[in-house]
Amino acid sequence: MPTSHITQPLTGPLTRPIPVAARVDRFSYAIRNIVTAAKAVEATGMKVRYLNIGDPIAFGFRTPAHLVAAVQKAVQDGHNGYLPSAGIPEARAAVAADYTSRGMPVPAERVLLTTGTSEAIDLALNALVDEGDEVLVPMPTYPLYTAVLATINAQPRFYRTDPQRDWLPDLDHLRSLVTPRTRVLVIIDPNNPTGAVYPPATRRALIEFANEHGLAILADEVYSELGFDGAVPLLSTLDTDAPIISLSSLSKAYLAPGWRAGWLVVSATPRLDNALAAMRKLADGRLCSPGPMQYAVTAAMTGDRSHQPEFRRALAERGRITTEALNAIPGMTCVPPRAAFYAMPAVSLPPGRTDEHYVLELLRATGILCVHGSGFGMRPEQGTFRIVFLADPRELRSIYADMAAFTGEYLERAG
Ligand SMILES: Cc1ncc(COP(=O)(O)O)c(C=O)c1O
Repeated sequence: MPTSHITQPLTGPLTRPIPVAARVDRFSYAIRNIVTAAKAVEATGMKVRYLNIGDPIAFGFRTPAHLVAAVQKAVQDGHNGYLPSAGIPEARAAVAADYTSRGMPVPAERVLLTTGTSEAIDLALNALVDEGDEVLVPMPTYPLYTAVLATINAQPRFYRTDPQRDWLPDLDHLRSLVTPRTRVLVIIDPNNPTGAVYPPATRRALIEFANEHGLAILADEVYSELGFDGAVPLLSTLDTDAPIISLSSLSKAYLAPGWRAGWLVVSATPRLDNALAAMRKLADGRLCSPGPMQYAVTAAMTGDRSHQPEFRRALAERGRITTEALNAIPGMTCVPPRAAFYAMPAVSLPPGRTDEHYVLELLRATGILCVHGSGFGMRPEQGTFRIVFLADPRELRSIYADMAAFTGEYLERAG
C-alpha cells in the first residue's frame, strides 16, 4: 500500500524551518514591537496604559461626521472596485487645490493617493534610493524611515537634532554627513517624536543644503495642521522650485488613522519629473489605495475643518501638562512640544543603564507603556523615551504622578 505523505517520518527538509530573508533582521519598528512586553504585563492582570502609539481614536477623539458620511456614501454608491492607481481624479484635484491655497502650487497630476503617509514613505524611498545609497534622517527619527531603508539595503545617516535647542537640527552635523552616495534628506516637521516645529531660518538652511548637494527632500508634513499656535506652513512655501515631496494623510489632523488614506505631493520642479514617473510606476503594482476612503480625502480637503482648532487646543493643553509634570520630576527633563501629540523627555540614567531598561521597568511597575528613544535612533544611555499625550488631562496627571513615584525609586535603587 502506498504510504501517505502525512505518515512519512519528518526528516531533512520537512523538519527544517523555512528560511526568512536577512532583511527582516534589519527591520525594526519599536512603536509596535514593544507591545509584546506590554501584553506579557497585561497577562499578569495589570492594567496597561498604552502611551506608545499616536492614535487619537484610541483616546476618545472622533472622526469628523462628514468624513464618515463620505466613506459610507462611497460604499453604498458601489465605489467598491479598483480605482486608478494614482487615486480618483477629484481627490487628487482637491489635494492639489488645498496645497496650492497653502502656498505650494501644484496641479492634480503631481498628487498620488497612498495607503497612508506610510506607503508614501515607502514609494518615495523606493523610487529615489538604490541599494548602498545613503539617506539623511533626523535623530530621533520616525522609525519607518529606517525600517524601509533596511528593506532596500540602503544606509540611514542620522543627523542630530538638539534638545538643548528645542530639538532643532544640528546643521553642522548634517553637513558633515553628506557623501557622493547621499540621495535624500528626510525632514519631519512638525516632528514626531519630539513635537518640534522648525523656524523659517532652519527650514531655509535645510532647503539650501539639499539644493547645494542635489538631494530630494522628503517633507513629512503629516502634523502640519496640528501646530499648537495654528497650522504650520508647508516647507515648499519657502522655495516652490525646491525638489520637495510632501507626505501626509487623514490619520492625524483628520482623525482617521485606520482608514489608511494618505497622499504625496511632488513640487512643480522638472527635476522631480522622473521621480514622479517612478513613483507612479511603483504605485501601479499595488493597484490602488483603499477605495472608499479616497472619497473622504475629497471631503476633508473641501469640507469643514472646525474640528481642528478644538483638537489643537486640546493638544496644547495636554502638551503643557506633560512638560510641567515631567520637568518637576527630579532627574527628568522635557523640552516643551509645539505641535502634534508627542514629547521626548530624558531621564538621567545611572551608568550602565539603558533607555529600554527604564521603559520596561516603568511598564512592569506601573503599567505605563512608552517607547524607548533608541527605538527612534537615539543612543540608549541618553535615557530618552517618547510619550504620547493624547489621554485626557485627569488621566495624564495620574500617569505622571505614577511615573514620578517610579522614577524616584528607580534612580534611588540604582544610585
Ligand atoms: C512622522 C510620521 N510619519 C508618518 C506616519 C504614518 O502615518 P500614516 O498613518 O499616515 O501612515 C506617522 C504616524 O505616526 C508619523 O508620526
